[in-house]
Amino acid sequence: MKRVLSAIQPTGDIHYGNYFGAVKNWVKLQNTYECVYGVVDYHAMTMPYNPKKLRENTWALIYNLLALGVNKESLFIQSLVPEHTELCWIFNNFAAMGRVENMTQFKDKSLQSKSGADGFISVGLFDYPVLQAADILIYKADYVPVGADQKQHLELSREIAQRFNNQVGEEYFVLPEILYTETPKICSTADPLKKMSKSAGEKHNISVFEKEEVIRKKIRSAVTDTGETKAGEMSAGVENLFILLKASDNNVEYDALMTDYTNGKLKYSDLKQAVADSLVEQSNHFNMKKSEILEDRKQVKNEIKASSEAIRKFAQTTVSEVKDLCGLINVKY
Ligand code: TRP
Repeated sequence: MKRVLSAIQPTGDIHYGNYFGAVKNWVKLQNTYECVYGVVDYHAMTMPYNPKKLRENTWALIYNLLALGVNKESLFIQSLVPEHTELCWIFNNFAAMGRVENMTQFKDKSLQSKSGADGFISVGLFDYPVLQAADILIYKADYVPVGADQKQHLELSREIAQRFNNQVGEEYFVLPEILYTETPKICSTADPLKKMSKSAGEKHNISVFEKEEVIRKKIRSAVTDTGETKAGEMSAGVENLFILLKASDNNVEYDALMTDYTNGKLKYSDLKQAVADSLVEQSNHFNMKKSEILEDRKQVKNEIKASSEAIRKFAQTTVSEVKDLCGLINVKY
């Protein structure tokens, strides 16, 4: 079975943009591949952060992912597998400075930091993609499901693997590939020209754990006419509502409402009603699962520690073999 690796930083809540764009796909991939999914807390240290919050967010994300259907056995917390950082150090010596300097995520994030209070930019932020390469290669992952924004990091991982393989004279590391799945891009219902996002503010995102009244209110007030629509074209707001309906697998209503639209008979209130009902149904289910999980927090933590430990065994084998291959001292030498 081919192996899939992906990871997510422990920042805040999961909204429907994250869910339909990534997490739902993670859940689906579990049927076809051996999946390993990490909550990458070491990566979260690369920007200014609060230690207490980091730990809280890491566990909160674990509970959320479980409630959304990610399997326990697939999940690990990066800092419980410290071999990632050891491999990162080794990889630092196989990563070309000029290539790492060129990473657009580093450029964007360091610009953000420069405009912050003290302008501090950490070496960790610079090294972030090398740690990411370690996350992927340590499990000899064949596929990495990520969005287009991570393409450059994936390319760097392949280059590191290739240089390492050349140096040691064998095809030790698998060259990972992006597993590109067409996932819906969800926009803010309050401003359908912008991506749904947490940072844009409360009205620009809908949490997957949102309460029914709030979902209904946000969908009821969704912007449908953006004023920039050409005659005969669907407005961005209406399109976004249709995308939400389709992403919710509500095909019957989608088809019926789309037919109404084509015939010029679509009532926005019907479309909104269908979208709100679909989201409420999903969120009710997620909230139910989440409250079960939260009842047994302690046990869930222990289970995730155990799954991380099991996943760690694989990482330890890789690092031990890598040390042998690159001339470091190991128990047997
Ligand atoms: N950089 C990724 C992001 O911003 C998160 C990430 C860290 C990741 N390590 C990874 C993704 C390994 C895929 C594989 O989304």
